[in-house]
Amino acid sequence: MKTKIIGTGYYVPETVVTNHDLERIMDTSDAWIVERTGIHERRFAKKTEETTTTMAYEASKRAIDNAGIAPEEIDFIIFATLSPDYFFPGCGVLLQRMLGLHKKEIGALDIRTQCTGFIYALSIADQFIRTGMYKTILVVGSEMHSMGLDMTTRGRAVSVIFGDGAGAVVVRASEDGSGILHTNLHANGEFAEELAMTCPGCHAGHYDGDPAKYGAENAGPFDAVFINETILKNALHYPYMNGQLVFKTAVVKFVETIMEALQSTGKTPSDIDMLIPHQANLRISKFIQKRMGLRDDQVWNNIQRYGNTTAASIPIALAEAVEAGAIQRGDLLCLAAFGSGFTWGSALLYY
Ligand code: ACO
Repeated sequence: MKTKIIGTGYYVPETVVTNHDLERIMDTSDAWIVERTGIHERRFAKKTEETTTTMAYEASKRAIDNAGIAPEEIDFIIFATLSPDYFFPGCGVLLQRMLGLHKKEIGALDIRTQCTGFIYALSIADQFIRTGMYKTILVVGSEMHSMGLDMTTRGRAVSVIFGDGAGAVVVRASEDGSGILHTNLHANGEFAEELAMTCPGCHAGHYDGDPAKYGAENAGPFDAVFINETILKNALHYPYMNGQLVFKTAVVKFVETIMEALQSTGKTPSDIDMLIPHQANLRISKFIQKRMGLRDDQVWNNIQRYGNTTAASIPIALAEAVEAGAIQRGDLLCLAAFGSGFTWGSALLYY
C-alpha cells in the first residue's frame, strides 16, 4: 500500500505586483531582481479580505474537487506555513472550521519548517496513511508573506523575493502501484538565524547575547520582551536572510536530498519525469538542473510569476503542472526543498 496524491489545487491572489511596482517604493530595479532571482512578478493578498487560511481554503476546495471527494471524507489536516493568521492557534484549526470539518472534530496539525514545510507535511501524511491511522488527509502549504515584509530599501534584499499563495493536495491509500516511494527529511539548527524572523519571540537576546538590541537589558519578570518599541525601532520583526550562505548551502543540499531519494529507490536522474523544486530562486533551480543533467521539460519553474511562496511553492507548482497537462498519471515526480532552519528534504512518487 502506498500514499497517493488523488487531488491537487492552488490559489494565488488577484493582485499582481511587478518588479516595476517595487521600483516605485524602494531602490531596486527590474534588471537586478530578474538577474539574481528570475522573478518578474508576484501576487500579494488583499489585506482586509485574505489571510493565509482563506487562501489555503480556496486551494483546498480545488484539491478536494479535483480529487472528486466530499470534504467530509477528509479525516486529518496538515498545514504548513511560516506566516500564520495568528501566533496561536495554528492555521490548521482555522482551515478545519472554514471547511466545516470542525463538526467532525478531526485533527489538525501545523508544520513549521518553512520552505521545507510541504515536504515535511507530505512525509508525515505518508506515515499516517501507511500505518492505517487515517484514510484521507488534506496537506496544505500557504503563505501570506506580504503581511510583514520590509517594503523599503532597507529590506530589499529579502522583500523582492517573496509572494503570497496557497497549494493543497489530498492524499489517500492506494494499491494500484502509484504513490509515494520515498521521503527524506533533514535539518541543521546550526544555521537557525541565517534565514529567520526572530521577533516577536521570547528570547530577549539570548542567542546573540545582546539583550539591549531587543529592549530587554533590564527586563524583569513582568516586562514585555515578546514585542516592544525597541524591537520595532530596530526592525527586528522583519525576516533576515544571509543570501549568499543560503545560496551556497541550498545548491549542495538540494542535490544531496534528490540523490538520496533516487539512490534509495534504485532510480537515476533520467528516470524523473518532473522535478518540482521549492521555488526559492530561479538561479538555484537552474543550478540543480545542470548538476543533475536534467532537460528543461523535466523541471517545473514558476517563480518568474509568483516569486518565492515558501511552504506553498511546491503544491502550487504541482497543481499548476497537473492543470497544464505537464504531469500525467504514472509519471515519476520528485519534490525537493531547502530553506530556513536550515531544513531540507525530498519526496519521490509515482503520480
Ligand atoms: N535591488 C537592488 N540592489 C539590491 C537588492 C535589490 N532588491 N538587494 C540587495 N541589493 C544590493 C546590495 O545592497 C548589494 O549592494 P552593495 O554591493 O552596494 O553592498 C548588492 O545588491 C549585492 O548584494 P548581495 O546580497 O551580495 O547580492 P547577491 O548577489 O548575493 O544576491 C540574493 C542576493 C539574490 C539574495 C542572493 O544571495 C541569492 O540568490 N541568495 C539565495 C537566497 C535565496 O534565494 N533565498 C530564497 C529564499 S530562502 C529559500 O527559499 C531557500
